[in-house]
Amino acid sequence: MASSKNITFKWAFNNIIWPRRKTLSIGLILIIISRLASLVLPGASKYLIDDVITNSDIPMLKTLLIVVVIALALQAITSFLLTRILSVEAQFLISELRVRVQKKVLALPVRYFDDNKSGGLVSRIMSDVEGVRNLVGTGLVQLIGGSLTAIISLILLIRINAMMTLFVLVPVAIFAIIALKAFGRIRPIFRTRGKLNAEVTGRLTETLNGIRVIKGFNAEQQENDTFEDGARRLFENVKSSLTATALVTSSATFLLGLASVGIMGIGGYFIIQGQMTFGDFLAFTLYLGFMITPIVQMSNIGSQLTEAFAGLDRTEEIMQMENENDPSNRTVVLPDVKGDIIFDDVSFSYEEGKEVLHHISFEAPQGSVTALVGSSGSGKSTIASLAASYMSPDSGLVQVDGKDLSKVELTSYRKHLGVVLQDDFLFEGTIRENILFPRPDATE
Ligand SMILES: Nc1ncnc2c1ncn2[C@@H]1O[C@H](COP(=O)(O)OP(=O)(O)OP(=O)(O)O)[C@@H](O)[C@H]1O
Ligand SMILES: [Mg+2]
Repeated sequence: MASSKNITFKWAFNNIIWPRRKTLSIGLILIIISRLASLVLPGASKYLIDDVITNSDIPMLKTLLIVVVIALALQAITSFLLTRILSVEAQFLISELRVRVQKKVLALPVRYFDDNKSGGLVSRIMSDVEGVRNLVGTGLVQLIGGSLTAIISLILLIRINAMMTLFVLVPVAIFAIIALKAFGRIRPIFRTRGKLNAEVTGRLTETLNGIRVIKGFNAEQQENDTFEDGARRLFENVKSSLTATALVTSSATFLLGLASVGIMGIGGYFIIQGQMTFGDFLAFTLYLGFMITPIVQMSNIGSQLTEAFAGLDRTEEIMQMENENDPSNRTVVLPDVKGDIIFDDVSFSYEEGKEVLHHISFEAPQGSVTALVGSSGSGKSTIASLAASYMSPDSGLVQVDGKDLSKVELTSYRKHLGVVLQDDFLFEGTIRENILFPRPDATE
């Protein structure tokens, strides 16, 4: 399997974000409206205390209430639309990606499936792509909207009291450093989780498929142990990411708490000295919340984005693999197949150094029946696989109607091919459905 590489933000931007720029822009506008509307309430509180109450201005009070209600309604509507538009887009992308990955997996050579458990592939197709939800969904937009609110709040805070703001920024900066460090540690954990998940589901699928063998050999205990071990490793993985996340959250609470203590001290002092109004103090505390909440949220979103990238890493790894039917190599199209098969000095090995077929030559002319007789493991099925073009020989030629099979466009050949394999395999459904499987529109 190809070694996994890190998906860069640039890749995600070009492939995931840019094609959806319209939807994401709408989301961004909505979130800006929503965030600006959310700043009205703290502003109104300051106004209420410092101006309306002090001047006993009842008409102004009414206006103030109306403005606040409008801002609240705006907030509710925009956040509803935001989820509706972005979450739907994200889910659409997930289903699109699933379809693409499934198609890709089916296009991979048969040998890929010998090395990869089918359950693991299921999890690649179904789960790995889910992370993009956090890129296209509300995650990224919230990150941007949050930064915006934080910046505006910061400006308002400085305008109210620059010194108090400076005091607050120190613990916030420390927190930001801790959070960044933590994400660096979380990303590999998420990546391993995907792998582990695939491994555990893969083994579980095999266990269930091989239930007769397992019971026949009284091997339940061994399977239980293997599964228990997998479940435990998954638990350890989740546990370590939980620890990192908890560290971020609790350091946030502590450092931001410290900031509040500072504000109480400095603010109290300024008010006593008459250098600050009650309204200003109240507004400062409220705006502070607006600056800090997005920063804490960002740490959450950061880990979501990390998860998204880890999933994309794994998806991209599959998408980069070479297809079985490589059009640049398989250029010969067979319009019809007569069925003359020639093996000419064919050698083949599944694993390096363990040759299975040694210089095999024979002809199987059209219209004849060819039987291969040999002891178990002598290579009969391997020869059949080569004739079905599941694999290509390491040396020598397999020819169909005089054409080198390794150069033949696969669909044009396999359209004419029928196989009955050693291991029977039926799809769920009736016998009729199974007979009709390759050509549902066949005549009676
Ligand atoms: N996917 C695989 N990966 C590695 N080795 C394989 C694979 N499939 C078969 N082999 C090995 O290749 C050799 C030939 O196997 P093959 O299945 O072609 O034998 P066979 O003649 O069909 O046997 P049987 O009569 O049991 O069906 C065996 O040694 C087998 O272990
Ligand atoms: Mg066989």
